[in-house]
Amino acid sequence: MELSKLGPSLTAREILELVQDDLVRVEREIGLESVASVDAITTISRYLQSSGGKRLRPTLLLLSSRLAGDGGDGAVRMAAVVEMIHAATLVHDDVIDVAETRRGRPSANVLFGNHRCVLAGDWLYMQAFQMALRERNFQILDLLIALTQMMVEGELLQLERLGSMSVTEADYMDLVDRKTASLFSACARLGAMVAGAENGMVGKLGECAWNLGMAFQLVDDVLDFTATENALGKPVGSDLREGKVTLPLIYALEEAADDEREVVRTILKDGSYDRVPFEKVLALIESRRGMERAMARAEAFTGKARGMINEFPDSPYQRALYGLTELVTDRDH
Ligand code: IPE
Ligand code: IPE
Ligand code: MG
Ligand code: MG
Repeated sequence: MELSKLGPSLTAREILELVQDDLVRVEREIGLESVASVDAITTISRYLQSSGGKRLRPTLLLLSSRLAGDGGDGAVRMAAVVEMIHAATLVHDDVIDVAETRRGRPSANVLFGNHRCVLAGDWLYMQAFQMALRERNFQILDLLIALTQMMVEGELLQLERLGSMSVTEADYMDLVDRKTASLFSACARLGAMVAGAENGMVGKLGECAWNLGMAFQLVDDVLDFTATENALGKPVGSDLREGKVTLPLIYALEEAADDEREVVRTILKDGSYDRVPFEKVLALIESRRGMERAMARAEAFTGKARGMINEFPDSPYQRALYGLTELVTDRDH
């Protein structure tokens, strides 16, 4: 276990123990709030909730809230809100990506169809906003609206760049900021806000979580190449097949020869590994140290987050946040 400046960071189990009671309440809240007057929506919401998932965002929100003070019921409610927003983005994302698997099961779009899933996602967004409204805090609504628009813009930008080999590292980072880091940042800020923290603390926790979110998506994109389908709960190599050129490949392409670029172009054109096996592109990325460089970039983001966490006073929650940064980079799914 790595040592932070103030004490040992916590393991996954220890982090979970800290927030377990609250997480149970979060699940209850999500269950209660996912009931619509139309069965299809309730069914899809329940399917999403019961399919597992790491609950990273509610955990981050709860830990931030505890670090900043005590968010009480508000923190539990907002943790449910961010997980419901996450679920809504995932169900829409799987429609857009024509995904077939999520969290080791058929994705909702496969079981319930695109039309129902789009509507269920819309409903979930609105339900989450209605729940957030109960805080009677305009700052929270401001944040959630800006966040949701940012995430939608991210998905749209991604859509526009689909199949393009000219995506730069800067383009990629902008996308990751929008589609993932912004939600992580929002989780930490919301947790601090409901705990009544002052703006400085809200900002610091937000920035720290933003770095964590950047690292999280970078690792996710590396895992898309290196993990097993079993561990990941979704097929490997999906990003490239879906037309997304992510950081390991961006790095590799920077140094690739013409025939190697042609290999990637073929996969993007086909949208499959029929003509070029997945192993070939994997070998190409490895030979240009694409994974290594992307992981180093992820580590730089977690390093930034850790530096900021070390500035907070020592407490179990401070150590848990530190532990969370380790889980993000050392995971297999
Ligand atoms: C998936 O997020 C979407 C990304 C930002 C990569 P998670 O990997 O946190 O999804 P679950 O909730 O654990 O399934
Ligand atoms: C992440 O997008 C989902 C959102 C943040 C909306 P991806 O398409 O990269 O995520 P996965 O790989 O489907 O989980
Ligand atoms: Mg997507
Ligand atoms: Mg996707």
